Amino acid sequence: MKLLSSLLMLAVLLGFKQSEEPFFTKPTTADIETLIAQMSIEEKVGQTCQITLDAIHRTDEKGQALVPAQIDQAKLKEALETYHVGSILNVGAHTLTREEWKSIMTDVHAPYLKKEQNIPILYGIDAIHGVNYTVGGTLFPQEIGLAATWNTELARQMGEVTAYECRASGIPWNFSPVLDLGRQPLWSRHFETLGEDPVLGTQMGVALVEGYQGKGESVDQFHAAACLKHFVGYSASFSGRDRTPAFIPEKYMQELYLPAFKAAVEKGALTLMINSGVVNGIPGHANYQLLTQTLKKNWGFKGFVVSDWEDFIMLHSVHRTAPSIAEAAIQAFNAGVDMSMVPSNPQYKTYCQDMVKAVKEGKISMDRLNDAVRRILYVKNQLGLFDNPLPDLSKYPLFGSQTFKNIAKQAALESITLLKNKESLLPLNGKQRILVAGPGAASINMLNGAWTHTWQGMDTSYNTTGVLNIFQALQSQLPTASISYQKGVELYLEKDFEASRFVELDNYKKALKKNDIIVICVGELPSTEKPGDIRSLQLDDKQKELVRLAKAAKKKVVLVLLEARPRIINDIEPLCDAIIQAYLPGDQGGLALAELVTGKADFTGRLPYTYPRYDGVIEFYDHPRSVARSKSGDFSAYNPQWDFGFGLSYRAATINGMRFDAKDEQKGTFSIQVNVSNPHNQEITTIVPIYLSDLYASTTPENKRLIDFYKVKLRPGENKTLEFSFDATTLKRVSADGKWRAEKGTFEIFCGQEKLTFELFDDLLF
Ligand code: BGC
Repeated sequence: MKLLSSLLMLAVLLGFKQSEEPFFTKPTTADIETLIAQMSIEEKVGQTCQITLDAIHRTDEKGQALVPAQIDQAKLKEALETYHVGSILNVGAHTLTREEWKSIMTDVHAPYLKKEQNIPILYGIDAIHGVNYTVGGTLFPQEIGLAATWNTELARQMGEVTAYECRASGIPWNFSPVLDLGRQPLWSRHFETLGEDPVLGTQMGVALVEGYQGKGESVDQFHAAACLKHFVGYSASFSGRDRTPAFIPEKYMQELYLPAFKAAVEKGALTLMINSGVVNGIPGHANYQLLTQTLKKNWGFKGFVVSDWEDFIMLHSVHRTAPSIAEAAIQAFNAGVDMSMVPSNPQYKTYCQDMVKAVKEGKISMDRLNDAVRRILYVKNQLGLFDNPLPDLSKYPLFGSQTFKNIAKQAALESITLLKNKESLLPLNGKQRILVAGPGAASINMLNGAWTHTWQGMDTSYNTTGVLNIFQALQSQLPTASISYQKGVELYLEKDFEASRFVELDNYKKALKKNDIIVICVGELPSTEKPGDIRSLQLDDKQKELVRLAKAAKKKVVLVLLEARPRIINDIEPLCDAIIQAYLPGDQGGLALAELVTGKADFTGRLPYTYPRYDGVIEFYDHPRSVARSKSGDFSAYNPQWDFGFGLSYRAATINGMRFDAKDEQKGTFSIQVNVSNPHNQEITTIVPIYLSDLYASTTPENKRLIDFYKVKLRPGENKTLEFSFDATTLKRVSADGKWRAEKGTFEIFCGQEKLTFELFDDLLF
């Protein structure tokens, strides 16, 4: 199909206005079908091809992208006109200003807006904890911290703010949320997950999707397409190293790993990205059963599936399920991958040529190709890109606003989790002399982690201006107090792995003598994916030494953990008076932490994972009874450092009473009422989790599992009755025959110290 004639044809078909109107109108489903019928194989294949911005960037003689970022017009023309590329991703090496984004988007969309192209480009980015690649964007806690808020409304708001700021940068597609289950703390991307629990992860993940995409059927210009990552099992790698094999029995795939994805698909998530690893011997990108049968056929997913970075190439070069790159592309496409993140230049040209050849030779059917293109055009249309791919970027007055920062700070406040507070050392009143120490004390990068301004988040030169680190934030909250700073230890990379060294240790020791309270901010260097592979969960020993020295000097120690995953600290835990898990709380994290430790706000965060006590014993709260069986035969062996859901507050709520409001032991439905009260004279916020135990079942039941939760505010002295309703699906598990079933028998329901018993009279099959 010749471009010009196709455009004219399309203009007629779609009823486009030729003159004054700058934008096209939204095509109907029938229009899209007609468009597909008119497209050449080359154009269709081009839609399935995603390239990285670097592939069309102007670069200097060393191949570095020019600053300010600029598009190389010849490369763009070749990508769009010759190869009909349908999607572009990423940012080059680092964060861009909104002006740079505007100039990139203007160039990228010019051919469509000038009607030289008939399909708009879909641009995508990893705005995984806020718009991390636009200067001045609002940065939230990483997902693991967000999960610790147990606040679905906050998750929705984070999604909404992020989508707004993506759109304000001209970007309508966000590669988020990560719905991988956080059950392998060695994995470098543990912090990108919503923790270990499928119910918490599902509710928070679905809320993020709703925030990103908005509630309507299509996505308006203040929202963006979500991308569910990484379907499925990526997080469960056996070795803990990135993109290495996982072994997930079907039962646990169904019960633990798939539910968040299924719920988010049902919520209308528009895109999904695939696991780059191998599960049960099959690479994610070659898994027809999961991508086509489960996701598309069984769940009815209407959007499209995008590969991860270079992943069809990896089928050949790493996973070795295809003897050539060309065959790998066919394998992935036929398994159900609709769009390939190829993404480099000139590889994308080879991809397009190989794919066109494969279609012509019948190795990829026209039906499969049309299906992929239809899905991609559906998403572009849902995003309003046909009407207007480039909204007026000046019409986003809230970008980087205080209103948005306040939401991010609220998320940090509700996420940071108090794990120990011996003799109520906290809150600090400013009367004691405080020394703030450790590599995290004055580091904005350690507050944010990876995917912040740069991929690995290590470069300090792009940090948001005006952000307070922990030391500065404490000073701001206690302006008259004596607060000093000694780094004590610094972290650095040595042969690709984290190493540490003391920094002016004598000064640290001297400072210990002059202070009463030592706030030691420890953690790890920002990192993710392969560069983030680690060999042990132990917290680096030199950082532990700061704690030992402080205790030896008979000082009170407040340990602040800035961690991408729980690091083993069982040896120093007894030396600490207070311990705070801050996760990676983002730009507002320093301030939030300071407000919490000075008592301006109370801690309400609760662990979204089981914090391990030992390097070699990784266990989860929903373990079967055998995990708890000790050498002496009792059931005391389950002994994590802190349990899932654990967290302290200055002012705790009281749960005093739980009863059935209704129950049908035939149908398996029940509703319960939980009384919760605030015995304090200040407002409090508390999380009320409900757990279920199935006492006997055909497959060994877990000790208990979360089935729902509430986060609730209580006025001083207030008593509240919370209502929870459950249908029979709450009781179902995968039975010994592989079927979902609620098996008859006795169930126990727990909330705090309260317990109820429920009987199901007959098996229910789902
Ligand atoms: C990561 C994805 C990310 C993609 C695009 C990959 O390496 O695994 O999570 O969305 O890059 O940046």
